[in-house]
Amino acid sequence: MAKLAGKRALITGGTTGIGLATARRFVAEGCRVIITGQNEERLAAAAKEWDQQVIPVLVDVRSLANLEALAVRVKEEFGDLDILFANAGIGYFSPLEQVDEALYDNQFDINVKGVFFTVQKLAGLLKEGASVIVNASAVNEKGASTGSVYFATKAAVRSFARSLAAELAPRKIRVNALSPGLVRTSFQDKLNLPQEAVDGFANYVMQTAPLARLGQPQEIANAALFLASDESSYMTAADLVVDGGYMNV
Ligand SMILES: NC(=O)c1ccc[n+]([C@@H]2O[C@H](COP(=O)([O-])OP(=O)(O)OC[C@H]3O[C@@H](n4cnc5c(N)ncnc54)[C@H](OP(=O)(O)O)[C@@H]3O)[C@@H](O)[C@H]2O)c1
Repeated sequence: MAKLAGKRALITGGTTGIGLATARRFVAEGCRVIITGQNEERLAAAAKEWDQQVIPVLVDVRSLANLEALAVRVKEEFGDLDILFANAGIGYFSPLEQVDEALYDNQFDINVKGVFFTVQKLAGLLKEGASVIVNASAVNEKGASTGSVYFATKAAVRSFARSLAAELAPRKIRVNALSPGLVRTSFQDKLNLPQEAVDGFANYVMQTAPLARLGQPQEIANAALFLASDESSYMTAADLVVDGGYMNV
């Protein structure tokens, strides 16, 4: 039996990488999915893969008006929601002295404000027993040179899972963080870092993580499926770290 048969999900940032892999996994398990992205071309390219099971919606998560319009569209298409995966995010790395206000604001607007208001605007459509997943990162309890702003956004996202789990519990809605380690996606092309720095970090992870490799988007999608399905029915406010052991060893 399909694990998400008859369910309906919203995945923000479903055009590439982890979000797209999760949409594929959810559809394969019988779920109808709305994916969002802010880039029209990537959204159209992702949606081409499906016929009716996946509906693409153009949304910039920095815009509350866009998120309100998304809620209206979700209501029209699905009525209500079983699964919300607030996944859209980006990482900008920069030395302390080079972080300007625009970099800081944009990073927090996408990763923190975007996640918070995605959950707020969609909360009214969540069914009793729904699952909310917020995409944090294995680095949410860590620090690193040039990563101060990005890492802080992910600490905030992990924190949201704790408080929102408490707030939505009376409706039997579970809220968990999903924290990937380093996963090869287009995320690495947008980091604002020279290629040798990106490769250097990847090599460091591969040398230190017990599994000695980077993750695949499908492996994060498998974990998202677990959190989305009833198989994780006793989990809320938790952080599911999927990082090849990097953070713990
Ligand atoms: N890859 C990793 O190593 C890693 C590790 C830990 C955590 N994560 C987290 O995983 C999530 C997904 O990352 P990924 O690796 O799959 O990267 P990705 O392939 O670059 O995907 C990012 C997604 O977010 C969307 N997005 C970015 N800015 C947006 C905005 N302003 N409004 C709406 N959508 C926006 C992108 O849409 P467009 O295509 O329209 O731009 C895209 O669909 C992020 O939250 C990231 O922080 C990734």
